Amino acid sequence: MCGHARKNTATTGEETVLGRGHRTTMKCCVAARRRKRAHLISSISFIGTGNMARTIGARAVAGGNTVEIIGRDESKAADLAQALGGGTTTGKWGDVPAGDIVIAALLYDAVVPAIAQFGDALAGKVIVEISNPFNATFDGLAHSEETSIAQEVAKVAPASVSVVKAFNTIFRQVLEKGWPNVFFAGDNAQAKAAVAEFIKSIGLRPLDVGGLKMAHWLEGAGVVTVGLASNGVGHFDFALGVDEFSG
Ligand SMILES: NC(=O)c1ccc[n+]([C@@H]2O[C@H](COP(=O)([O-])OP(=O)(O)OC[C@H]3O[C@@H](n4cnc5c(N)ncnc54)[C@H](OP(=O)(O)O)[C@@H]3O)[C@@H](O)[C@H]2O)c1
Repeated sequence: MCGHARKNTATTGEETVLGRGHRTTMKCCVAARRRKRAHLISSISFIGTGNMARTIGARAVAGGNTVEIIGRDESKAADLAQALGGGTTTGKWGDVPAGDIVIAALLYDAVVPAIAQFGDALAGKVIVEISNPFNATFDGLAHSEETSIAQEVAKVAPASVSVVKAFNTIFRQVLEKGWPNVFFAGDNAQAKAAVAEFIKSIGLRPLDVGGLKMAHWLEGAGVVTVGLASNGVGHFDFALGVDEFSG
């Protein structure tokens, strides 16, 4: 039964209404299946085989997306691909990734060198950059300028690449549970629309914070999140979000 049918029944409290509306309900179910299928078009490559690649990868597979894993250690990539299932493939480090969207799931100081190493192999791709460049005491950024790892990636990537910062404000275990808000930033509207579509396909809520220079402030929000975990909130099972109020 699709959500529409459940809503219909719950709203009226009459089982018979569900029966009368069956034809409409079937149309709803078909439409819902079509919408689900529409997400299958997202083709994602992960560069990295760690926790975030595993967690986002699992949601990507569950959301019906095509997934490829690329790691500097091929055996780790093969293990992760097998664990993710759903036809997940592996690619070679430095080769052209199969995905249109390439998620760089690496430690922050490895991201720019890795993207530079891939070089032209990334031409035309959307790169999603997810890192948190924390300083040694986790109360500031590792870089002092008004930049971000995402902006530095844009400098070394081919000109045809669009970089989108996303996912960095959410702890891995929170992502695993499917808590919804994913802030993202980037300069290219088409690339952001593709990333937003992917985020929706994995059951999460995309929240656009603006151009790529906002990646600096998303990295700052990562610092705030860790500060909250260590102080006011006191644990890591929460996420920053947006509540909207009217009136
Ligand atoms: N975990 C979280 O809750 C969380 C939340 C938001 C954002 N992030 C960000 O997501 C990124 C990945 O985090 P993670 O938790 O997945 O980390 P992780 O489990 O430690 O995985 C790190 C990955 O980076 C690779 N790597 C490390 N140094 C490298 C180098 N010099 N060259 C190439 N590859 C290298 C590792 O490869 P090897 O296994 O071969 O060493 C591994 O695949 C980080 O930038 C982190 O700040 C994490």
